[in-house]
Amino acid sequence: MSNLVQELEALEGEAIAALEGTTSRAETESWYADYLGRKGRMTALLRGLSGLPAEERPLVGQTANRIKGALEARLQERQGAMDQAAMEQALAAEGIDVSVPGRRPSVGKLHPTTATQREIVEIFAGMGFQVYDSPEVESDEMNFGLLNFAPDHPARDMQDTFFTTQKDVILRTHTSPGQMRCMLEYAPEPIRVVVPGKVFRNEDVTARSEMMFYQVEGLVVGKKITFADLKGTLLNFANQMYGKGRSIRFRKSYFPFTEPSVEVDVDCVLCGAKGCRLCKHTGWLEILGAGMVHPVVLQNGGYDPAVFSGYAFGMGIERQAMMKRSIDDIRYFYSNDARFLERVG
Ligand code: FA5
Repeated sequence: MSNLVQELEALEGEAIAALEGTTSRAETESWYADYLGRKGRMTALLRGLSGLPAEERPLVGQTANRIKGALEARLQERQGAMDQAAMEQALAAEGIDVSVPGRRPSVGKLHPTTATQREIVEIFAGMGFQVYDSPEVESDEMNFGLLNFAPDHPARDMQDTFFTTQKDVILRTHTSPGQMRCMLEYAPEPIRVVVPGKVFRNEDVTARSEMMFYQVEGLVVGKKITFADLKGTLLNFANQMYGKGRSIRFRKSYFPFTEPSVEVDVDCVLCGAKGCRLCKHTGWLEILGAGMVHPVVLQNGGYDPAVFSGYAFGMGIERQAMMKRSIDDIRYFYSNDARFLERVG
């Protein structure tokens, strides 16, 4: 056998031992350069090939190829084992416990004002009311004048109303101008609408009062509409909104655009009219203002008060939400505290 074959076989044994001794990928790479690289020991040995007799060369060539293939296979195996060990070590160090339950992503939901507005509108839609949209920026005339407010009525005062730089253009203080717009648009057709929306008052903000809040207005106009219709509609509303078996009561009140005018209370949802903190020990909670549409207002809207009659009501949406969802401070609504929005449905 040629010396060269023996030398190649000796080199193989040495290379295997050296590969076993490597401990990192970098070491295996320099091992490759040493033994199998272009300037490595195998290449150096094979330089002697040209000096051999022609009949010996094939055996040396075959031996060199076999050894090269075998060493490369061992190298791959060794590197694979190292990669695997490195990955296992990294995983152990990261300490991921896949059995721990995942964190729930926080999913958005409707703001309590929106949710309550939809509940209210849905109840009235069930009684045949349609939704009428009315602007938040209003004329003084729509907000006050046509609704029969006397020119010196205190609600027109700078204290209550946000004025714009344009004369007689204001932010509406209630949704009642929606009554007037609807009548002017539909007279002499009968009307049965709710007008939900934002209103603005230049008020001190307290636990019960905001300067920007939402109302839902209701307006029914037709022939032979009576106070009994108003009563029946509001009792139905109270039962659907606050639970079956609710009672309501009417207290006389005053609004320039209704006559007679009333404040409507529902028996306390918390104590069942026994008296508690929520109802200030009266057993009753105020839910809205209402009344029969004033003849002057009907006339301003284009309806003959001798032929037509109607009723109207207006309620604050946040106040309904507060009663229904046990919220004790209106300021939570628009302070953007996610914990509050999370807690109340
Ligand atoms: C009115 O605004 C009348 N337009 C209601 C009305 C309509 C009466 C149709 C008759 C016929 P009042 O100012 O009381 O009335 O407000 C109505 C409701 O809005 C109140 O019952 C209350 O629920 C709510 N509200 C009033 N002021 C505030 C405030 N500052 N913050 C939050 N809610 C308020």
